[in-house]
Amino acid sequence: MLVSMALVVIGIVNAEMYSAQAHSKPSEYERADTGPYPWQGHLRAMAGSVNKIYCGASLISPKWALTAARCIDTAKGIVHIVTFGKVVSQTPIVGSEQRTATYLRHEQFDETNMLNDIALLTWTKEITLSDHIQPIALPRHNATFIGETVSISGFGRTESSSLYVADQSLCATSYINFALNTNLCAKAKVIDQSTFCLGDTGGPLVYLNATSNTYVQIGIASHGVMMCSPDPSVYTRVTAYLPWIEANSGYDKNQF
Ligand SMILES: *[C@@H]1O[C@H](CO)[C@@H](O)[C@H](O)[C@H]1NC(C)=O
Ligand SMILES: *[C@@H]1O[C@H](CO)[C@@H](O)[C@H](O)[C@H]1NC(C)=O
Repeated sequence: MLVSMALVVIGIVNAEMYSAQAHSKPSEYERADTGPYPWQGHLRAMAGSVNKIYCGASLISPKWALTAARCIDTAKGIVHIVTFGKVVSQTPIVGSEQRTATYLRHEQFDETNMLNDIALLTWTKEITLSDHIQPIALPRHNATFIGETVSISGFGRTESSSLYVADQSLCATSYINFALNTNLCAKAKVIDQSTFCLGDTGGPLVYLNATSNTYVQIGIASHGVMMCSPDPSVYTRVTAYLPWIEANSGYDKNQF
């Protein structure tokens, strides 16, 4: 605790520490329902029967999902399992859909500086959509989204949290590697709300487009200073990667 506080004060992000915590605790995964977030996926990277990584993901079409690059384990023999729909204590229940995914990690992912923290997951048999499983739309145009109310969801949380997109300078002062063009900064609206928690990395930051009355994913949970804190946290900015997503996946913006 003291160590993290000190790091916050001097403005250095210990991403490794956050990363290790974010990925290693199965007991947090006990959410029964995807509730109003039917695109929410639960991702595990497994070595045999051992879970190595827990993360969030978001369904963008029946065969594709988005996650963070840091949620991918490129070691040989690792299997990535993604589940959509209801999950209780890591066990998918009736109506959920589970797939063994292959991945495409961003070619310029820089793990040290946490840049280009984005990856695509895909599988062969289409996910069956239902009330509990629906894809999320991606933004249709470039916007900064500054000041917008947004929410983050995931199996690491007991519920979603209300955040807002903060000015880029807020994260730029706290994170030495914050990338103005490709990252997005979000902060809790009130002190008792928090940004993403253990295992929410890779999950979607969404906002409600009032014009179309549809949810739109504008960020991917990347890293933060401390887990479950109201502090500003860093997201991969989806608009900056739309060409990459469209070129590499079956995502079709006209499906929405
Ligand atoms: C919100 O919806 C409107 C109407 O469909 C659309 O023109 C606009 O591009 C959408 N905004 C984003 C950021 O996707
Ligand atoms: C949208 O933003 C990305 C990343 O900053 C940029 O590469 C692209 O040119 C922008 N597109 C438009 C239409 O402004």
